[in-house]
Amino acid sequence: MTDEGDTNLDQAEKLRNIIKKSQMTDSSTVSQEKKHARIITVTSGKGGVGKSNTAINLAVQFRKLGKRVIILDADFGLANIEVMFGSIPKFSLADVVYKGMDITEVITEGPMEIGFISGGSGVVGMSNLSQEKINFLIGNVAKLDDMADIILIDTGAGISDRVLDFLLVSEEIILMTTPEPTSITDSYSLLKALNRNSRFRREETMLRVLANKVLSTEDGKQLFNKLYTVASQYLNMPMSFLGVIPQDPALVNAVMQQSPVSIESPNARSARAYKDVADTLLEIPHTDRIYRRGISTLIEKITHFA
Ligand SMILES: Nc1ncnc2c1ncn2[C@@H]1O[C@H](COP(=O)(O)OP(=O)(O)OP(=O)(O)O)[C@@H](O)[C@H]1O
Ligand SMILES: [Mg+2]
Repeated sequence: MTDEGDTNLDQAEKLRNIIKKSQMTDSSTVSQEKKHARIITVTSGKGGVGKSNTAINLAVQFRKLGKRVIILDADFGLANIEVMFGSIPKFSLADVVYKGMDITEVITEGPMEIGFISGGSGVVGMSNLSQEKINFLIGNVAKLDDMADIILIDTGAGISDRVLDFLLVSEEIILMTTPEPTSITDSYSLLKALNRNSRFRREETMLRVLANKVLSTEDGKQLFNKLYTVASQYLNMPMSFLGVIPQDPALVNAVMQQSPVSIESPNARSARAYKDVADTLLEIPHTDRIYRRGISTLIEKITHFA
């Protein structure tokens, strides 16, 4: 075996140990498995269909139900969640990687103690990161499993490799769709891209469709049925219907105020719908189908794609 092979083995072993350690509640009690945060990734085929609003409003609703929540903004291009928080974080995950900062230092606290981490222009596509830096990042990210019950990931829109990379490693995906014809066709294109990717593990992924900006529940169901019909005809893509968020001027108004509608107008139709969706997500029984791998495994897989 070459020296290089040995080094790679060492590195891989080190990484496994970091992850294993992070999976113990206490490294001295070897038998106790650590609880992993539930990771929910919010995505869409088309931009501007309500991903960021969904991430932040579900975060608020989960907080109201007593859950500890962290939002990871993986939409590197635009300031998204931060605009709705009304505060711009100073640091991002890139500072953990490149400046050696601790993950706790790059978490911005938003309303209701919701943690927010900006992905920065890093992580995915960090193609020439040394294994040492990857190990450091993963060791840090693993701390989030202790700090949160639920981690919501807000992705960018569309079928870029960056978005797909996140979807390929996500356990639970919420696909946002609106009644606009382009939104439905773009959702279908996204599903098609996932479907043909050899790294997609359909049996380990829960895909749920959330119909946004609809006029009625019936509208939302029809929207889902349209997507479901083409997806089951042409793709091998199991999916379920998560619910609807109505078109609501109160949500638009809240966005203007840089505050989530669930805080700004908790009784607005959209806020109540977000509460229903949060309830539904928490009610979903934990089945063997979804094995919670935790955030460190997710980030580790992504860095391997690079
Ligand atoms: N339920 C709703 N009712 C009314 N307007 C809505 C609703 N959901 C979203 N919108 C409008 O759509 C805009 C875009 O929403 P949001 O920023 O959440 O979308 P996005 O998918 O994150 O966009 P991007 O792809 O640019 O990140 C909001 O600012 C708001 O004006
Ligand atoms: Mg957004």
